[in-house]
Amino acid sequence: MNEARFTRRDLLKGAGAALASGALPVSGLRAGGAQPAAAAPDAARERRMRWWHAAKFGMFIHWGLYSVHGRHEWAMEDEAIPILEYEAFARQFKPKPRAAREWARLAKAAGMKYMVMTTKHHEGFCHFTTSTTDYCSPKQGPGRDLVQEYVEAAREQGLRVGFYYSLMDWHHPDGARSEKDEAARQRFVPYIHQHVRELMSQYGKIDVLWYDVSWPLTKEGWESEKMNRMVFELQPEIIVNDRNGLQGDFSTPEQHISAEAGGRAWEACMTLNDSWGYQAADDNWKSAKTVIRNLISCARQGGNYLLNIGPMPDGSIPEESVRILREVGEWMQRNGEAIYRSGLTQPEDSDYSSFTRNGNILYQHVYFWPGTTVAVCGLQTKVMSVRLFASNREVRFQQDPYRLLLTGLPERAPDSPVTTIAIECESQPTQNSQFVRRQKPRAGVNITPA
Ligand code: GLC
Repeated sequence: MNEARFTRRDLLKGAGAALASGALPVSGLRAGGAQPAAAAPDAARERRMRWWHAAKFGMFIHWGLYSVHGRHEWAMEDEAIPILEYEAFARQFKPKPRAAREWARLAKAAGMKYMVMTTKHHEGFCHFTTSTTDYCSPKQGPGRDLVQEYVEAAREQGLRVGFYYSLMDWHHPDGARSEKDEAARQRFVPYIHQHVRELMSQYGKIDVLWYDVSWPLTKEGWESEKMNRMVFELQPEIIVNDRNGLQGDFSTPEQHISAEAGGRAWEACMTLNDSWGYQAADDNWKSAKTVIRNLISCARQGGNYLLNIGPMPDGSIPEESVRILREVGEWMQRNGEAIYRSGLTQPEDSDYSSFTRNGNILYQHVYFWPGTTVAVCGLQTKVMSVRLFASNREVRFQQDPYRLLLTGLPERAPDSPVTTIAIECESQPTQNSQFVRRQKPRAGVNITPA
């Protein structure tokens, strides 16, 4: 039997005290509710982005000539490699047929719902069919259109298709010169616009356009308004990011998780080790647990998580990445619902767990399993029932205005690497740890002598 030893009124009294003290964070009150006026929802954008918000988890793929070199995608600049020396990689780049199928299968197995592949990175090499240059996959080592292969592979697995495209170009003679030389800019910008046109018109419906690095020009220099107008004319349902100098549809915090204010959409992109492109010696892998914790952290704050793989030159995925993403995928099979269906979640204070929420159900994701009891402080709603999410096993609990205590749990974590507990509440769960700090009865200073 669960012992809910206090009434809804007790709880409301607690919340009332906290509200009166101004202690409940405003963001908490807003969780899942109306957004501030500053972010008046644009209905068309909301419609375009619906699938993306539900998707939560995507695969980023950095693959290019830097994969042949195997020393990070910035090596061309960071090692100041002469152009002719670097161009040799274009002839050596001979990926195996349909390598993208492995990526798409792994993405699907990991619980990812979309993919974003580098169609051209800063090095300037195009993976797509283009009228602008011979420095492209169809005309160099691969001898075929790798964007086409990628698009087909993603669609075969029912995944949404995204294109990363770097505006900055270290190969084009005007790429850097255009900063100070208007004639160079006038040659270079149409070259870039033509790439975007080709990407938006040669491969059917594209779901995401992910611009990168706008150095050395401003949005005026890139003619970004015109660029996005063309994109939306060719792909009316697409969503675009914020890296061509315009706001676009979503923000792109990189290598860190930080939520946008005012309901603006955001996606945290991260590497699995320390490199985007294949770096053979980079062994600083994130654990599956870290990946899952990051995914939870994005989902609870209303954001997406775009996690990178850096395939080897033949297109194979580094073994460690496969191992990590498979483990994440197994966990997602058991617990994914608590991620995909999550809305903004206010509770966050815990030293061994984090939270997501779907309606009145609070999911507690325990990443450091403490043992036979698990607790949540300052929950401002009455708990109706508690279950281990993956096994659906009922969990006993006690609740008072300060603490929810789950009892009779196994010594060892029932799930790995993170155990999810579904806490069904009477109303939308919020937490107020300041209420606990201020109101929890404290001891006197004099302890009765033994
Ligand atoms: C940075 C890096 C680039 C990487 C990108 C991913 O812009 O320059 O190498 O592709 O981040 O977000």
